Amino acid sequence: MTLPGDDAVSTALMYTVPKLDDYSQESLEKAFAELRAAFDSEAQAPLDEAGGKTFRDRWLGRKSGILTQVNEQWLKAAPAEAKREVGRRMNELKQSVADFVAQRESIPKNLGIKFDSLELLTGDQVATSLGRQIEEAKELRRQREKLDLTLPGIRRPLGAEHPVLRTMNEIVAVFRAMGYSVGEGPEIETDYYNFEALNFPPNHPARDSQDTLFVAGQEQKPLRERLLLRTHTSPVQIRTMEKQPPPVRIVIPGKVYRHDTPDASHSPLFHQVEGLAVDAGITFSDLKGTLDHAMKALFGSSVKTRFFPSFFPFTEPSADVAVTCFKCNGKGCRLCKMSGWIELLGSGMVDPAVFGFVKANGYDPAKISGFAFGMGVDRIAMMKYEIDDISLLFQGDVRFLEQFA
Ligand code: DAH
Repeated sequence: MTLPGDDAVSTALMYTVPKLDDYSQESLEKAFAELRAAFDSEAQAPLDEAGGKTFRDRWLGRKSGILTQVNEQWLKAAPAEAKREVGRRMNELKQSVADFVAQRESIPKNLGIKFDSLELLTGDQVATSLGRQIEEAKELRRQREKLDLTLPGIRRPLGAEHPVLRTMNEIVAVFRAMGYSVGEGPEIETDYYNFEALNFPPNHPARDSQDTLFVAGQEQKPLRERLLLRTHTSPVQIRTMEKQPPPVRIVIPGKVYRHDTPDASHSPLFHQVEGLAVDAGITFSDLKGTLDHAMKALFGSSVKTRFFPSFFPFTEPSADVAVTCFKCNGKGCRLCKMSGWIELLGSGMVDPAVFGFVKANGYDPAKISGFAFGMGVDRIAMMKYEIDDISLLFQGDVRFLEQFA
């Protein structure tokens, strides 16, 4: 079979690098033109069976390729004044040959064309087929990426702060604005911090009010080292005073645990924010003023506070604090059980017996005094957002949580 490139191949293969004696411009021009013509014509020939290897070896072969011969016979032999010119022309051609070979070798790899199908193609035919395939690939991509502006967009669900966390952050922010620092403490606590150092002596009936969840298998330890789930955030009062001498102004948000049977208003896990202020000359008026301000900041400036006597082992005197119902403004409604008041927190002046446990760190009850308070975050969140079942806060039901987004 005769193919269009056949003649070119046979003529071109006859090219051999001639000897060069004349290094004049005209002679160089002619020699390189012939060389170039030989290359162009061979490049048009169909690929041989080895996929162009023969062509590559013939032109670029290290030992006896045409370009090596040009280098040996023309460049090395050139007189000094012609070296530059010969080198330039040679490099130019070398670049063309290298580019051509590299391009031809990349075709089958890039486009998955088999050598078989290339064997009978000329350089031009390869280029045409290559162009067509590129266009086809582009069109396919255009089809795939076509944008339908009438489709509804993808809605990304927005996360939101959990109502408990939001309330806790609000409470903390109110005290931060008054210069309080923020601390934390462990949820698994020892009997010492949860009870003893807060003036709940062993076997004292006040412990009963705390419905404690004890960690099992602690019986062989001394009582004060036994572990339990903290029933309140108050143990962090002691931990703070052990670490830091007075003055102290700190709020401590966190989780607490009690052995309560779950119902609409009880959960074995809930949240508190503890507060502690210790300095020289702190009085009950400071306690009242601080908490009155905090309640107004949280619930609105029209809210009134009421302090009435209570008991906690670690404060003396102790007071429970109620605010006027922020729903009915004190008139009486379902939320406040018709009383007009909502009880929100416990508080009191730090009992000197508590300072006794941290006396070595500068807490001498003869020189300093302080107040403390603790409030239930979940209850406040439930009131604020009119949530009627505490378990909703912990079920993780997105339909409930979405309402706060
Ligand atoms: N720890 C108490 C409780 O969980 C709340 C409390 C009352 C904290 C009075 C205080 C306080 O700091 O002074 O029942």
